[in-house]
Amino acid sequence: MKWIQVKNYTEMSQLAARIMTEKIAEKPNATLGLATGGTPEQMYRWLREYSAERQLSFRDVQTFNLDEYIGLGREHPNSYYQYMRTHLFAHIDLPEAHAHLPNGLAADVNAECLRYEALIEQAGGIDLQLLGVGKNGHIGFNEPGTPFTSRTHLVQLTESTRAANACYFSSLEAVPTHAITMGIATITKSKEILLLASGREKANVLAELMRGEVTEELPASVLLNHANATIIADEDALAFSIVAKRK
Ligand code: GLP
Repeated sequence: MKWIQVKNYTEMSQLAARIMTEKIAEKPNATLGLATGGTPEQMYRWLREYSAERQLSFRDVQTFNLDEYIGLGREHPNSYYQYMRTHLFAHIDLPEAHAHLPNGLAADVNAECLRYEALIEQAGGIDLQLLGVGKNGHIGFNEPGTPFTSRTHLVQLTESTRAANACYFSSLEAVPTHAITMGIATITKSKEILLLASGREKANVLAELMRGEVTEELPASVLLNHANATIIADEDALAFSIVAKRK
């Protein structure tokens, strides 16, 4: 795994957006794995800007989001679909049928998980997967202890994850208790992975990762064994780690 240290949130966002833009330039029918959360927000803004500057089209791109809350439909303001619409989909020419997220209202959740896995396969697998990281090392909604062999599945959110996401809801009680998430094996099957981390609140988890132990207790550590994974982290996120400076 490659570590890239950048100065701050803006530099992290710009570098990640350049890598994503480059992927679309070199492969106009790329399959992108997308993440939500606070971390990639600004990255999406730069992605919109850079792709417009280069007049790149998303017409043939397919996107797969990591996760979606159970119980929230696409039109719910807190659904990850709405997050994606606000930050990316509404601003680009990606056909609606090419934007995939798990269906949080599926009557049969297991069938929905299988459908999602099959769709990713049909699209030829994910070329570039974007990730954030939870304070406890979760990726997608794969909490510590999730098997590295897991595929798209139903998860019960931990109280700490619900609390961390409560700021986006009217109250802690309004945060769903369950979600559908790509599994760890779904994520690591991606040809290339980009994990973004910014801010002091990620410093502990990155220092843990830097220790180099690959363990299911730290889901993000699975990336240490991936052939083409990069972490882009800013100085605050690396405050407790030692990394050679970029350039
Ligand atoms: C959420 C999401 C993850 C995200 C993580 C970190 O639980 N399901 O995909 O990476 O939290 O979020 P943030 O970027 O807001 O710190």
